[in-house]
Amino acid sequence: MAGIRGVSVLFLSLACKLVKAQNGTDNLQYVDQLIGSANGGNVFAGATLPYGMAKAVADVDSGSNQGGFTTENGNVTGFSTMHDSGTGGSPSLGNFAFFPYAACPSDDVNQCVFPKKSRKIPYQGDSVKASPGYFAITLSSGVAVDMTTAQHTSLFRFKFPAASNGTSPLLLLDLTDLSDSRQDNATISVDADTGRMSGSARFLPSFGTGNWVGYFCADFKGADIRDNGIFANTRASASVKSLKISRSINNYPLPGGGFIRFKSSPADGVLARIAVSLISEEQACNSAESEIPNFDFDTTHNAAVDAWREKLSPITLSATGVDKSLITNFYSGIYRTMVNPQNYTGENPKWDDGEPYFDSFYCLWDSFRSQLPFLTINDPNALTEMLRSLINTYEHEGWLPDCRMTLSKGYTQGGSNADVILADGYIKGLKDGIDWDTGYDAVVKDAEVEPYDWCCEGRGGLDSWHNLGYIPTQDFDYKGFGTMTRSVSRSLEYAYNDFCIAAMANDLGGRDDDVKKYTERSSNWRNLYKKDQKSFLFNGQDTGFVGFFQGKYLNGTWHNQDPLWCSTIDPNSSRVCSLQNTGQETFESSLWEYGFYVPGDQAGLISLYGGPANFVKRLDYLHDQNITYIGNEPSFLTVFQYHYAGRPALSALRSHFYIPRYFSPTHAGLPGNDDSGAMGSFVAMSMMGLFPNPGQNVYLITPPYFESISIKSPVTGKTATIRNVNFDPSYAAIYVQSATLNGEPYTKNWIDHSFFTEGKELVLTLGRNESSWGTRVQDLPPSLSEYTGFNGTIGGGNNGTAGRFRRWGGVVGLKDVDVEGLAGRL
Ligand SMILES: *[C@@H]1O[C@H](CO)[C@@H](O)[C@H](O)[C@H]1NC(C)=O
Ligand SMILES: *[C@@H]1O[C@H](CO)[C@@H](O)[C@H](O)[C@H]1NC(C)=O
Ligand SMILES: *[C@@H]1O[C@H](CO)[C@@H](O)[C@H](O)[C@H]1NC(C)=O
Ligand SMILES: *[C@@H]1O[C@H](CO)[C@@H](O)[C@H](O)[C@H]1NC(C)=O
Ligand SMILES: *[C@@H]1O[C@H](CO)[C@@H](O)[C@H](O)[C@H]1NC(C)=O
Ligand SMILES: *[C@@H]1O[C@H](CO)[C@@H](O)[C@H](O)[C@H]1NC(C)=O
Ligand SMILES: *[C@@H]1O[C@H](CO)[C@@H](O)[C@H](O)[C@H]1NC(C)=O
Ligand SMILES: *[C@@H]1O[C@H](CO)[C@@H](O)[C@H](O)[C@H]1NC(C)=O
Ligand SMILES: *[C@@H]1O[C@H](CO)[C@@H](O)[C@H](O)[C@H]1NC(C)=O
Ligand SMILES: *[C@@H]1O[C@H](CO)[C@@H](O)[C@H](O)[C@H]1NC(C)=O
Ligand SMILES: *[C@@H]1O[C@H](CO)[C@@H](O)[C@H](O)[C@H]1NC(C)=O
Repeated sequence: MAGIRGVSVLFLSLACKLVKAQNGTDNLQYVDQLIGSANGGNVFAGATLPYGMAKAVADVDSGSNQGGFTTENGNVTGFSTMHDSGTGGSPSLGNFAFFPYAACPSDDVNQCVFPKKSRKIPYQGDSVKASPGYFAITLSSGVAVDMTTAQHTSLFRFKFPAASNGTSPLLLLDLTDLSDSRQDNATISVDADTGRMSGSARFLPSFGTGNWVGYFCADFKGADIRDNGIFANTRASASVKSLKISRSINNYPLPGGGFIRFKSSPADGVLARIAVSLISEEQACNSAESEIPNFDFDTTHNAAVDAWREKLSPITLSATGVDKSLITNFYSGIYRTMVNPQNYTGENPKWDDGEPYFDSFYCLWDSFRSQLPFLTINDPNALTEMLRSLINTYEHEGWLPDCRMTLSKGYTQGGSNADVILADGYIKGLKDGIDWDTGYDAVVKDAEVEPYDWCCEGRGGLDSWHNLGYIPTQDFDYKGFGTMTRSVSRSLEYAYNDFCIAAMANDLGGRDDDVKKYTERSSNWRNLYKKDQKSFLFNGQDTGFVGFFQGKYLNGTWHNQDPLWCSTIDPNSSRVCSLQNTGQETFESSLWEYGFYVPGDQAGLISLYGGPANFVKRLDYLHDQNITYIGNEPSFLTVFQYHYAGRPALSALRSHFYIPRYFSPTHAGLPGNDDSGAMGSFVAMSMMGLFPNPGQNVYLITPPYFESISIKSPVTGKTATIRNVNFDPSYAAIYVQSATLNGEPYTKNWIDHSFFTEGKELVLTLGRNESSWGTRVQDLPPSLSEYTGFNGTIGGGNNGTAGRFRRWGGVVGLKDVDVEGLAGRL
């Protein structure tokens, strides 16, 4: 907001006060949907409602078109209406694409090009416009297309070049999807009189099992119909009105679909309205007719803008002196947290018992860390529906999902992290209609019952987990089957999952045995600590650090994975690090980075690593040597873990190291896949200065990137504010010197969720040097074990006489449970 710089000090302070009264009307202007549209961000850049099922955009054929469109100069293959956002792997969805022609050569439909592979054309680079609820692009053919959406319905407007006046524009509708996964027996029928096209096709999910059927219903307006019909492969005919088409030979779906030609090419263009459903063609047609009854583009667009305005309104800023690009970075990150998951309530053919149904949880391994926790602040009502949906999915499918897309079970990457999400929502007080007893049953089932096929739900190796206290490398497991890799990262995640179950049991009450059992299992991470494990760089140089987690066989012998394998600096590009069955004992990351993944017991980990100073040294090394990969979610918490070592200043420094250097408001501005908004939430929560340790009632405090930030709770209507005194837009003064909470001195370096619901005010006085604020043992966030080895200097923490500080957010103590013995066990 450079314009404010020149005004007087008096006016400035007035402006700061006024900011609290802002209602968020203007926040939409800071959303740039094209952030992450290149360089593998894979975001969905098009038009959608918050959590909308209809997601309209131009699809391109570039290598990273997972979200449909990219700014990487691919050619446009069509305009489809379902998408995911930020996912990796195969492109997701992209079903039922339109493609426009101003005219067919020689006025012969057969001379228009129908197959996707040959019809695709470039777009005019400067023609792309994207804003909430809107996307526009002009093809090299001169056809200008813009689009907006309602919940299940997209409205596309095709404007043909003036030169095509007098000709007969054609739109085709293709029974295809982005990854060419269509199966046999897709159908389309075309109504000669009304022009309506409806049909269905079976597709495969992009990262999961099984298949699903999508239905559509398309209508047209703006010009009289000249003729219509179907196409199959390269040929079309107006005398055939329906088609049933096979997948075909050669593993590539035969092109097939419908077409319509118009008698004229009006200046206002022709409108194509298409609704999708997972239930039936009739339901798609009903949605279309009720959601966009009159093909009114502006009304539909305005409704989408209003919906987004409301979703972006809880958080307001005073951004005096801060470059606008940072504000854009912030609100665009927030925007992306609400594109996925998608609200498919009323669209679930598998069951409908009146509960909400959300889909495109893609995947919880990504979103449990900060995206869904962010929604507990910004959109708790939506999160409540999502939690109900997860629990309801457990009731009908037998398990909480781990990754779920288009009604299908997606692949599990690590632990049963829905446990963390449920615990997070429970601890933060979400209630409205959530059946928490059933929710608790669901997380206990994850911990106790092994699915026959743990590819996609629950956990594997539970006998070993219960009896040995770790997942062995090359486990013997005859009860359930899944990819037998990731023994270290799965053990660490299972341990934290159990920690979260203990937390839920503790807060639910009356479950003391469970609290004890799961608290005990939550310390299983200790069983994979190999205290003499060394780590050498790939040039042979000793990192100097000793003691890492390591895989362990059933017989107790250590496995031997180099701690730097699968790190960013691993020079071996053929190393297999993901879900392949030749993968490592850590998933998509190194033993080095997983060496910090003990979110429930940082005090215990710090002791193990030789005290806070050594812990900080190791954490610095992880970041400074580029071992961590900030483009993947396991890195998120490591940015802020300095808090636990009594060095909140270093978390602030590290946050500014990564933002905006690695997260900038440019097309190529994301360091990795956005993963349904996970990266967006990392940006948003880092910049707002409160980062969650998910599953716990804990936000780690760093100074917001803005002079002040206010968050109005959509539940209580109260407004929480964080205000920086001595705010420095050049970010040299990013160190908290002192703080007050509601006017009282506040020395803890973390705060709990009541900050938001009760609308508290946190004032942080900043300086250019690290201070002693938040460094004493009694200032540190809760942890299962006792903090030890802190000695009273900055970087040494307090002298440790302050007594025990455990988790449970200071709300309920583990009073009846003997954790002393557990915590000390090794
Ligand atoms: C928001 O503020 C704008 C201008 O400040 C005002 O016109 C509008 O009515 C307000 N909206 C609400 C919902 O308060
Ligand atoms: C896009 O299409 C144009 C011609 O239509 C072709 O020359 C170009 O190679 C295509 N680009 C890609 C990336 O396929
Ligand atoms: C397609 O239809 C045929 C005949 O109607 C049937 O035998 C086949 O199972 C169907 N295939 C699929 C994938 O539905
Ligand atoms: C198309 O041509 C007709 C007459 O041929 C004219 O009335 C109309 O304005 C033209 N429309 C456009 C968009 O040029
Ligand atoms: C989800 O969709 C249902 C049915 O349309 C609606 O009632 C509900 O408000 C939606 N929830 C959210 C969070 O948008
Ligand atoms: C333990 O099992 C591993 C893996 O099968 C094997 O390499 C190792 O030799 C065994 N150790 C002992 C002591 O038997
Ligand atoms: C790189 O990794 C591959 C796959 O694990 C392995 O086969 C190969 O030996 C490794 N190369 C080197 C130089 O270590
Ligand atoms: C880490 O990577 C950055 C570029 O991403 C580079 O500038 C820096 O030198 C690297 N640091 C080390 C220690 O390799
Ligand atoms: C900040 O620290 C530097 C040395 O790191 C010192 O020179 C300077 O005086 C300190 N400033 C304040 C205000 O303490
Ligand atoms: C206290 O910790 C600091 C920082 O780690 C260290 O430099 C110092 O030597 C420690 N002092 C004592 C008395 O242990
Ligand atoms: C240790 O901490 C306690 C309480 O915080 C304090 O009273 C005491 O003076 C400290 N001792 C030393 C040696 O710093």
